Formats: sequence, structure tokens, C-alpha cells
Amino acid sequence: MDAREHPLDGRRLGWGVLSTANIGRAAVNPAIQASRNGELLAVASREPERARAFAERHAIPVHHGSYQALLDDERVDAVYIPLPNALHLEWAVRAAQAGKHVLCEKPLALDVSQCREMAAAAEEHGVLLMEAFMYRFHPRTERVIALVREGGLGPPRIIRSAFTFRLSRLDDVRWSKELGGGALMDVGCYCVNITRTLAGAEPVEVQAASSWTERDVDSETAGMLRFDDGLVAHFDCALTLERCEFYEVAGPQAWLRVQSAFLPGTGPSTIEEHRGRSDVVEHVVDGADEYRLMVEHFADAVLGGVPLRYPPEEAARNMEVVTALQASARAGGRAVRITP
Ligand SMILES: NC(=O)c1ccc[n+]([C@@H]2O[C@H](COP(=O)([O-])OP(=O)(O)OC[C@H]3O[C@@H](n4cnc5c(N)ncnc54)[C@H](OP(=O)(O)O)[C@@H]3O)[C@@H](O)[C@H]2O)c1
Repeated sequence: MDAREHPLDGRRLGWGVLSTANIGRAAVNPAIQASRNGELLAVASREPERARAFAERHAIPVHHGSYQALLDDERVDAVYIPLPNALHLEWAVRAAQAGKHVLCEKPLALDVSQCREMAAAAEEHGVLLMEAFMYRFHPRTERVIALVREGGLGPPRIIRSAFTFRLSRLDDVRWSKELGGGALMDVGCYCVNITRTLAGAEPVEVQAASSWTERDVDSETAGMLRFDDGLVAHFDCALTLERCEFYEVAGPQAWLRVQSAFLPGTGPSTIEEHRGRSDVVEHVVDGADEYRLMVEHFADAVLGGVPLRYPPEEAARNMEVVTALQASARAGGRAVRITP
């Protein structure tokens, strides 16, 4: 099927969700339901009864007992895919083949070639595909990028970041190697993403060191990224530590610090600007629901033809860096070159 044969004629975007995942339940599904240009029409689960109960509890009109049944539902224009990472490729490709636009959870896939395969399927079937890095839609992230680009820090020379939290559930998908788990895949990918964004360039070399669980996924990883112009970035991520989320970007004239960097909540949030020994300016940014802004942008891109802010190639680039960091960690921290 080709989505170009079925124009949406100014309707609200009809969304379906593949699975009863936690992140859908807690954040993205309610964001779709609250969005100005979309409606949450259907949910699917591997277990028909789970789909029915989930639909009833969350006021979703339609439920399907398999993911394919939802993809075959003509009322659905776009799907949101919050499946374990190793299943993103299969279901994004199947969704594209069914003519559905795809908003897929981060990280988009397990490696760069999978990302490109998904992008090719989307292109072939005339649908949009975007990776669901919601923090990029928060106005604070946009403000930080603007502050860096305006040049008040001088050229950025160091970027530091972290994303750690304690994952207590032993059967969580993040502990499974087969399902694409591990700290780097789950939260390190945010650090890589903000680093590349603030640098405004791709790293040319990376190094990483990890600790591994008995099931061979990284529970903690520290990484370093080197850029052509000498900019150096470092980050850490973990599934085993108290929550910590921040990034900092430093230039010769000043540095910025952003706390609760990726999940600031919906209230006002701040950017600290440090200039001189005790001179700290706090930029306060209005609150927003970053998940809602993300799904509204995606729907605008499908319905109204605004350009997609983050095309799949951007996700492929991020994944290339994550994969290089994995390779370095597996090789005991050996430097891994990334060729553009
Ligand atoms: N952007 C964010 O803020 C954010 C936050 C958390 C997670 N995520 C991403 O969202 C995705 C899902 O994470 P999550 O924590 O929400 O996962 P989760 O709660 O474990 O949900 C995953 C769902 O996938 C379905 N599934 C299909 N095959 C499965 C299998 N073999 N094992 C387990 N579940 C399977 C299950 O739904 P059914 O049984 O109903 O089919 C399950 O509920 C991941 O890609 C993750 O990186 C993003």
C-alpha cells in the first residue's frame, strides 16, 4: 500500500499504538489524546485480552489482538511504536508496507543499517518515519541550542552529559541482550544525541568503557567523543544508579548547565549560564509537555506538509555513534574511528 494514494484531507491524524508498553501508557498515549491535531484510535497487544483491558482503561475506542491486525485497520493513519528495541525494525517496516506513518521509540533500531532499511521502507511506501526523542521538542532544548549558536560561550570546546537511573525490575526488557537492552542503548543514546546536536557536527572518533551484567548487557558505560575541530565530549549512563540527568556545554567565555535534561516535567525549567567565578544567570523557560509537542509536530508533518524536523538519517547518524561506542567498549576501550 502507498500512503500517497490516501490523502488525509485536513482530518485529525488517526493514531494506533503497537503494544501496551509503559512509556505509551505513561506519556505518549496521553499526549496523543491531548494533542490538537490527532486522536488515539486503536491499541494492539500480543494478548487480545490485554489489548481489550488497556483500551477500556485508557478510553481508546478500538483494540486489536495482534500488531498486524492494527496495521490492517484502515482507520489508522499513523502508528506509534514503543516496542523493545530489537523489534523496531520489523514493525516499522511492516507498518510502512501497510501505508502507516511511523513514530518509533528511541533508539530507532539496533544499528545504522537497520535504520537505513526502515528509512528505505518509509520512502518506498510514501510514509514519514521519525525517532521519538521527545526532549528535542522542549522549548528549553531549543533555547540552549540558540544560546550556543548565538556564540555567547565562544566556540564549544567541552560537552559533558549523563543519564542514569536505577532499574529495579529484573525482568525488564532493558536487561535483555536479545531485545537490544543495556545502558548505552537505553539512556546513553540521549547523551550522544544532545552532544551531536550541541556540537553541530559528527564525532570522528569515540572510546567507551562498560561494566557488563551476567546476561552481557552494559549496566554502566562511560564514553568519549572527539570532533574534528578539537571539541571533546564525555558522558556516562547507567541502569544501576540514582537518577541523574544533565548536560553542560563549555566555551572559553561561559558554560551552560541543564539539569533534568531530558525529562524536565511540564513546569517551568531553567538553564544556568556561568560566566566568571560567581556570575550565574538563570534563564527560565515556560513549561511544556515535550511528548505532546513531538506528536503534534509529527501529525503536522503528515497532515500539513511541514517538513519533518528530524528525518530518519539523523537517527541513523546517532545510531552510528552508539554502535561505535559499543564496539569500543567491547574492545576494552580501543579508539574507534567514524568515517563520514
Ligand atoms: N521516550 C521516552 O521517554 C522513553 C521512555 C521509556 C522507554 N522508551 C522506549 O520505548 C520502548 C519501550 O520501552 P518500555 O519501557 O515502555 O517497554 P515495556 O513497558 O517493557 O513495553 C514493551 C511492550 O512491548 C511488547 N512486547 C512485544 N514483544 C515483547 C517481548 N518479547 N518482550 C517484552 N515485551 C514485548 C509488550 O506489549 P504487549 O504485551 O501489549 O504486546 C510490552 O508491553 C523502548 O524502545 C524504549 O527505549 C522511551
